[in-house]
Amino acid sequence: MRNQNAHLILGIDVGGSGVKGAVVDVRKGTLVTDRYRLKTPGPGDPKSVAQVVARIVRHFVWRGPVGCGMPGPIKHGRIPVLSNLDKAWIGVDVAEVYSKACGCRVTVINDADAAGLAEMRFGAGKKRDGVVVLTTFGTGIGTAVFVDKRLVPNTEFGQMEINGKPAEVRASARVRKARDLSWKAWGERVNTYLLALENVLWPDLIIVGGGVSRKASRFLPRITTKAEVIPAKFRNEAGIVGAALAAASRDKP
Ligand code: BGC
Repeated sequence: MRNQNAHLILGIDVGGSGVKGAVVDVRKGTLVTDRYRLKTPGPGDPKSVAQVVARIVRHFVWRGPVGCGMPGPIKHGRIPVLSNLDKAWIGVDVAEVYSKACGCRVTVINDADAAGLAEMRFGAGKKRDGVVVLTTFGTGIGTAVFVDKRLVPNTEFGQMEINGKPAEVRASARVRKARDLSWKAWGERVNTYLLALENVLWPDLIIVGGGVSRKASRFLPRITTKAEVIPAKFRNEAGIVGAALAAASRDKP
């Protein structure tokens, strides 16, 4: 018998400060429940984070497929290196740890790649071909690169060195708050980063995501790239929607 709810998938976004989840209609790219958010545990070792992810699954009384976005590249289900997570994650089979803790099948994807999938399918990147980069500004800086709508997974341009330091150490949203930078000062840092990114990738379009996209008018005027730069449409929900899309595409024959 056909599963009437096959288009509903629980999307979860594991971030530096919060773990957020909602049930997503993957046909429309919309949330069909409220977002449920718990604090990211500290220390963020695999067992503690898996327990929080499992609490989110229980909150929704969920037994279907789950998609989960995580910081860090995800190669063959494992995280080879990381910057914003507990070192104990290195080499762990993430999907297996989550699936066991939750009692359902969990598909794992890099969080920025997830956000990119949502923007390209339903948001700011819809109908956009060529080389499109989504860059998320949050605790770190994430990137998702698309070539004619196909994802090139696990790009880590937030780690690109600028003046001897990873870009995310200078220009993440966390740095703006921690250093109490004005939008102008922070916008200039973002511009330096985007110019460096443009210099190596020559994208046709740059989509700026993360919570800061709500304030795009405060910093986008500082950006001087040749490529068009536009704010993301989904803002904080992109990671949840995209994680669900990743789980849905795994189910396709
Ligand atoms: C990680 C990326 C991640 C980004 C946003 C960075 O520190 O290296 O994988 O996408 O943070 O969470």
